[in-house]
Amino acid sequence: MATSKITKEQWAVSEKYIAKIKADNANFAMQNGRQRLAHTETYGCQQNVNDTERIRGMLKSAGFGFTDKAEDADIVIYNTCAVRENAEQRVFGRLGILKHIKEQKPDMLIAVCGCMVQQEHITKKIKKVHDHVDLIFGTHALWRMPELLYRTMTETGIVIDIASEDGTISEDIPILRDKNEKAWVSVMYGCNNFCTYCIVPYVRGRQRSRMPNDILNEINCLVKNGTTEISLLGQNVNSYGKDLGLDIDFADLLKMVNDIDGVRRIRFMTSHPKDLSDKLIYTMRDCDKICKHLHLPFQSGSDKVLKQMNRHYTKAQYIAMIDKIKKEIPQITLTTDVIVGFPTETNEDFLETMDIINYVRYDSIFSFIYSRREGTPAAKLDFVLTDEEIHKNFDELLRVQNQICKEKNLEYEGRTELVLADGISKTDSSLMSGRTDGGKIVNFTGTPDMIGKYINVKITEAKQWSLRGEIIK
Ligand code: SAH
Ligand code: SF4
Ligand code: F3S
Repeated sequence: MATSKITKEQWAVSEKYIAKIKADNANFAMQNGRQRLAHTETYGCQQNVNDTERIRGMLKSAGFGFTDKAEDADIVIYNTCAVRENAEQRVFGRLGILKHIKEQKPDMLIAVCGCMVQQEHITKKIKKVHDHVDLIFGTHALWRMPELLYRTMTETGIVIDIASEDGTISEDIPILRDKNEKAWVSVMYGCNNFCTYCIVPYVRGRQRSRMPNDILNEINCLVKNGTTEISLLGQNVNSYGKDLGLDIDFADLLKMVNDIDGVRRIRFMTSHPKDLSDKLIYTMRDCDKICKHLHLPFQSGSDKVLKQMNRHYTKAQYIAMIDKIKKEIPQITLTTDVIVGFPTETNEDFLETMDIINYVRYDSIFSFIYSRREGTPAAKLDFVLTDEEIHKNFDELLRVQNQICKEKNLEYEGRTELVLADGISKTDSSLMSGRTDGGKIVNFTGTPDMIGKYINVKITEAKQWSLRGEIIK
């Protein structure tokens, strides 16, 4: 299906509802002497983080303030993830807690949106088990949130919109970002790959790329407001453009972003190995602003499992790609995603996965135990290994990778790294925190006025998950 944008007329309807909610909120503020507050929580990937920024953008335009505490909120919105069962369990757990809060605050509105509720069986379950939920809307209904929210505020009964509207892009939704110095910019939505374990194509729809001009305009606006680091976002960014019918691929887009004055760092994720072209590798190598970090999920080292996962590459092809990248960009930081315990995975298959881990020596990895997703092809397969065997393999993977991670960090001791300061350290509030070009977290002695600045930091100590450094005067 061809991609179409939500029209100006369609968005004008949403704006009309934003104005209606705003008037209602102003009324509420006059009568109660306080602003209505919203609380949002995001589960899942950066795509969802970016969607929550749009939700907050719409809420702000509609006159809501924000609170970090669900119990202080007039409306609570959970933006949910369906990728693994534990992500869903957490949301059900939170909804259970909210039930008690709502008993004390009956006027509180509760909304659940995002990937998880795009699945019909989940929405049915929420209706049945959590009847204190007032609004449910899926990923395709994001741009209609103002109308849905207005109806929730003014009608009785639950409002639900999980219709699939495949092939549309909404460009007009306002975005409220948390940080100023760096920003996520979606370049595409959805996914066409149908890896057999994965729910994403079912809850996010088919791949649709944004027009290059829309992306570049957004980045130009960000830069005018002081943003210097841009992360281009999509489920499979290196297939960007294939659905547009223009002669532009992801490498071309990267080059265009590299040419924007004021952009200092460019990151992107996620790349699929089957679409990683030589052109992209050379573009990364040759464009000074593109960070030398590549997140390249391999999922499994076994050719048999890769085939059953529908990944379209072999272990040897993946390794050849890594060799090429390391040759062209020797300072590259590599990260990956791995799944342990895919149904047909044997202990021998797992050893092939460990082989890649030991060969590539990633700076860090995201590792997951396979989670059965209803409606995906792999959900029909029987397991070869027991839960216990899978957990044992998973622990072994973590043990080896933790060691590699520490050793990779030790290589940084004594080096000087350019760090973009982005906040106060999460592990020690007396320190500032930032990231290197390769994406490593560095904690250093500094002051909050440094946020947003690029600072030369000498690495003094490698920790397990981060680096410690001192500013070079
Ligand atoms: N589009 C990206 C990210 C997809 S979701 C990509 O293809 O790399 C992020 C990661 O979650 C995946 O890379 C995969 O490692 C993991 N994942 C997806 N489905 C899963 C499942 N059913 N069980 C366990 N891990 C899963
Ligand atoms: Fe899921 Fe595969 Fe698409 Fe990634 S590429 S979102 S793992 S189907
Ligand atoms: Fe989860 Fe949806 Fe992202 S399923 S991983 S939030 S696209």
